[in-house]
Amino acid sequence: MGSRNDQPSKPFADPLTLMSIPEKSELVYQGRDGLRVSDDRANILLVDDRDDKLLALQTILADLGQNLVLARSGEEALRLLLQREFAVIVLDVNMPGMDGFETAVLVRQRKSSELTPIIFISAVNYSEIHLVRGYSLGAVDYILAPIVPEILRAKVSFFVDLYKKTEQLKLQAEMQTRLVRAETARQEAETANSAKDRFLAMLSHELRMPLTPILFSASRLSKDERLPEYARKELESIAHNIQVEARLIEDLLDVARITEGKLKLNLDSADIRTLIDSALSICAENLSAKNLSIHREFEAGDPLLLADSVRLNQVLWNLLQNAVKFTPPYGQVKVRVTNPEPGWLRVEVIDTGIGISREALPRIFDPFEQVEPMRSGGLGLGLAISKAIVELHGGKISVISEGSQRGSTFVVELPTIVRESAGAGQSDGEGKVFSRPDAC
Ligand SMILES: Nc1ncnc2c1ncn2[C@@H]1O[C@H](COP(=O)(O)OP(=O)(O)OP(=O)(O)O)[C@@H](O)[C@H]1O
Ligand SMILES: [Mg+2]
Repeated sequence: MGSRNDQPSKPFADPLTLMSIPEKSELVYQGRDGLRVSDDRANILLVDDRDDKLLALQTILADLGQNLVLARSGEEALRLLLQREFAVIVLDVNMPGMDGFETAVLVRQRKSSELTPIIFISAVNYSEIHLVRGYSLGAVDYILAPIVPEILRAKVSFFVDLYKKTEQLKLQAEMQTRLVRAETARQEAETANSAKDRFLAMLSHELRMPLTPILFSASRLSKDERLPEYARKELESIAHNIQVEARLIEDLLDVARITEGKLKLNLDSADIRTLIDSALSICAENLSAKNLSIHREFEAGDPLLLADSVRLNQVLWNLLQNAVKFTPPYGQVKVRVTNPEPGWLRVEVIDTGIGISREALPRIFDPFEQVEPMRSGGLGLGLAISKAIVELHGGKISVISEGSQRGSTFVVELPTIVRESAGAGQSDGEGKVFSRPDAC
């Protein structure tokens, strides 16, 4: 193997012979999915006590475009192996101190490098026994000096490819595991969620059932002239409270229907003016109890909708009830109906009430969302249900408020019926044919 450098090994200082590489951690970056993605260069460890031979190895292998890490002794090689992972080790057999064979034994003893391929560089005059010893110590290949550059490059390249393919497989396996985990978590959450929805639907249903006969009896008895006045008043109050409770439960059932996509509409032709008058009549008592003034502005020349009257009434009633609830006594509530553009109706419910802060605005259509829950009563479901109903009609609902104490305006926009003189469509009962611009 020629002359040996018997100096104790020292760290490389010469920039020619030291081709230091960043730590493994610096070679990887965080991919968009959070997985570690290699920068595509593998580490190759070159071990020889002689600088000139290391330089020769470097020159031969430079074309491979990988990270060449140099060690001038077995000890240094072992130290580097602790710090990073290598695709292959090119190890000189004949080194002073710890020789290549001894180094290989220690390399194999370490868990992190027990499978790292080792190519021994050995003198051509070594005996077969010598070679067999190398193989038994974990060599996967021998290169006999003088080195034929193409052969060394081909062998190292083979192990680099193998390493990269293995890394790729590991990465794919990790990705697969993550995907499976994420999917399992999603399925579990979905199962838990639908169990909760089923429970809510069942509970609401069971709670509502007994209310019907109680409400019926209380209402009937409250009108029974044979009963004393005070008893009838009490029964009226019972009936009223049961109605309130039934509505709360009905809202919970609606939420369950919406979540399950089971809210269905019974569509028919409807006049927005009739719907608004009907909703106002339900709120009349509450409006006058708070001395609120009510203004109606019907400016829509095209007031007909293809709608589920009961459901749309529920929307308008909820908006009016909110306006009443959140407007202090002697305030104003206005309902304005316009056609902002042909084929569309806009209903605005405007109040001079407590208004809604900028931070709360984006959330108020979410179920159970209440800006001031303690004071308003209810469950915070009215707007969430209204939104679902309006959207099922192909419309939009939105809110405008300049902020706290500055009133609110709720805007419902719905497609109107487009009248057709002939052709397919649905009869509105007056012998006319109508359809909607977009299907419901
Ligand atoms: N006109 C309004 N003025 C001020 N705040 C409002 C108005 N309408 C709704 N809000 C705010 O939005 C929240 C949600 O309204 P939503 O109608 O969904 O629920 P709720 O009226 O509190 O209860 P529920 O309708 O279930 O009886 C209300 O609690 C209130 O904080
Ligand atoms: Mg409400």
